[in-house]
Amino acid sequence: MALTVAHAPGKVILFGEHAVVYGRPAVAVPVLDVQATAVVEDALPGSGITIVAKNLLHTFNLFDAPRNDPLRTIVSATLSRLGVGMKADLKITVSSAIPVARGLGSGAAVSTAIARALGEHLGQWLTSRAVSDLVFETEKIHHGTPSGIDNTVVAFEKPVYFVKDKVMDVLWVGEPFQVVIGDTGVVSQTWVAVGDVRAAFEQDRERYEEIFDEIGTLAHMGRRAVEAGDVGAMGRLMDANQKLLQLIGVSSPELEGLIEAARQGGALGAKLSGAGRGGNMIAAVTPETASQVSMMLRLAGAQNVILTEVR
Ligand code: MEV
Repeated sequence: MALTVAHAPGKVILFGEHAVVYGRPAVAVPVLDVQATAVVEDALPGSGITIVAKNLLHTFNLFDAPRNDPLRTIVSATLSRLGVGMKADLKITVSSAIPVARGLGSGAAVSTAIARALGEHLGQWLTSRAVSDLVFETEKIHHGTPSGIDNTVVAFEKPVYFVKDKVMDVLWVGEPFQVVIGDTGVVSQTWVAVGDVRAAFEQDRERYEEIFDEIGTLAHMGRRAVEAGDVGAMGRLMDANQKLLQLIGVSSPELEGLIEAARQGGALGAKLSGAGRGGNMIAAVTPETASQVSMMLRLAGAQNVILTEVR
């Protein structure tokens, strides 16, 4: 029987998380070293759509899942985009090597892999833009007011400069550079951090608008540094971005511990990445300092360390 496989990468945000929800620019890059995979197969006539979620050890019929289940949402949205009725008979197997709820875009990656695999299986090419728009529907489930940066960077699989509803530029990286990603092991629920920032913003709009403006300026400068391949400048901008993320209350002792360890190991700069409170941090490194920084992160208790190249 016909079988189609598709993959999608994880992501990290280099500059601008949270402020991006409020219309400021942000820079994000795919992490190709970790991937989600979807396999679509024809199933026996009348068997309907079965989802096998390998990581969750869970197999279910699509329509037995709640309406707001992210897997149900992406499959339904994609099939209707493809003009195929829900009466299809398919088995969709999903697996992911991207840690869940750690700011690495695992939800967006799983949905992207599914949308792509369905499109290819049913003989229709979905553009990266179309996939990104479909995945955005599932991002709304993960948290009510997504900026759209996660689905964009994951679906396009390229470094992006992003302003919500306005700009999506694929970045040309001047010189490939390396980033070390360290996992605190602490679950980070995007909707919680985004909700807390929203509540604080409502209390003191003036101050938060100023902070978001500063983060936006750093993201703009970060874009220039990425385009120039200037990893030293990237590191300095990451440090400045981290200070502002502390101010809006999304850092944590675990993140601070890893960030400090990375700096001691010779990183050019470091910050949390994603929603914060837990999840992952990133550090700008050179080929000479990459292994030392990775080792320092492990010694400081990182649950996982990824060295990735951005190109
Ligand atoms: C999450 O990866 C990034 C946030 O800025 C939320 C969003 O942009 O939707 C925290």
